Amino acid sequence: VWTVDNIVDKQQIYPQIQEAAEWLRAGEVVAFPTETVYGLGADAANTAAVGKIFAAKGRPSDNPLIVHVANVAQVEAIAAAIPPMAKTLMERFWPGPLTLVLPKRAKAVSERVTAGLPTVAVRMPDHPLALALIEASGLALAAPSANRSGKPSPTTAAHVLADLNGRIAGVIDGGPTGIGVESTVLDCSGEVPTILRPGGVTKEALSEAVGRVEEAVGMGDEQTAPKAPGMKYTHYAPKAPLSIVSGPPSLLQQLVDESRAGGKTVGVLTTEENKSRYAADVVLACGTRRELETVAHRLYDTLRRFDETGVDLIYSEAFPEEGIGVAIMNRLKKAAGGRVIRE
Ligand code: TXA
Ligand code: MG
Repeated sequence: VWTVDNIVDKQQIYPQIQEAAEWLRAGEVVAFPTETVYGLGADAANTAAVGKIFAAKGRPSDNPLIVHVANVAQVEAIAAAIPPMAKTLMERFWPGPLTLVLPKRAKAVSERVTAGLPTVAVRMPDHPLALALIEASGLALAAPSANRSGKPSPTTAAHVLADLNGRIAGVIDGGPTGIGVESTVLDCSGEVPTILRPGGVTKEALSEAVGRVEEAVGMGDEQTAPKAPGMKYTHYAPKAPLSIVSGPPSLLQQLVDESRAGGKTVGVLTTEENKSRYAADVVLACGTRRELETVAHRLYDTLRRFDETGVDLIYSEAFPEEGIGVAIMNRLKKAAGGRVIRE
């Protein structure tokens, strides 16, 4: 664990970052913080190194990785072309939680990164330690979220270690991540930009910058084969089965009561404003409804905390699907395997 409290001086050389960068140059995998979640990085051009990411995570090999860059020259080296709308979006949202899928340049990154697709996903993270690591290594870093496949993404170095200790060279500990859910993945390889995965940058914000933006058919829907290969796998799931309850607290409480009457230990995922309204074995509040960003920030940590409580099942409140709420509900539905209970 390389602990770096804060980068206040961009000119200063941090020995922890230099050491982590050396491991990356030697073809090893290193976890690092971004503004969304912790990533597990490797040299995107080194097939053996990229293979170690898939091995450490237990990730299916048909699920491609995002390449993390610190400057636009790195994008030009990886992408065959940067369409004008992608340029506009890079200027507006980078560094930040927006991943752009672009036509890829032949042989610039390992075939394992792109899982054989003709496109490559690229993003510039808005985190000083991530940018410093990319710069110090001199590499473009292929980096999925630094969790075991299927588990909630890590928002602290402790989450990374809980999943990957012993499987990676190390982790840069920069404290908890800010946004808490992953980047928006936007396909810019066709005519109309299309959201493949909702995330930190909302559809509204994208439309403001480039006009028409579409959502991939089946985005967040388990039944349809999605365009972002990663979206088809069960994800973000706590150990206990989770159901989303779309309705008032009284309905959720009724479900809790029925389950407890059947001998189950029951957890409730709620928010600060509603937490006193439930009687259950474990009630965890995840931010406030007045500011859904706080829910996004704490979502994965809250899902992981249920694992420590040993509950048999979890009922979660639903959230309004607007702004960052789209990403929150997308992740919750995946964690719930699509189980939504309505009135
Ligand atoms: O915020 C984030 O994006 C975090 C941090 C670490 O940067 N990374 C992350 O990576 O969430 P990962 O691997 O967990 O998710 C990458 C998503 C997957 O759904 C994958 O299928 C999609 O991006 N993806 C990657 N390359 C793609 C491509 N060429 N075409 C379509 N989808 C792609
Ligand atoms: Mg992931």
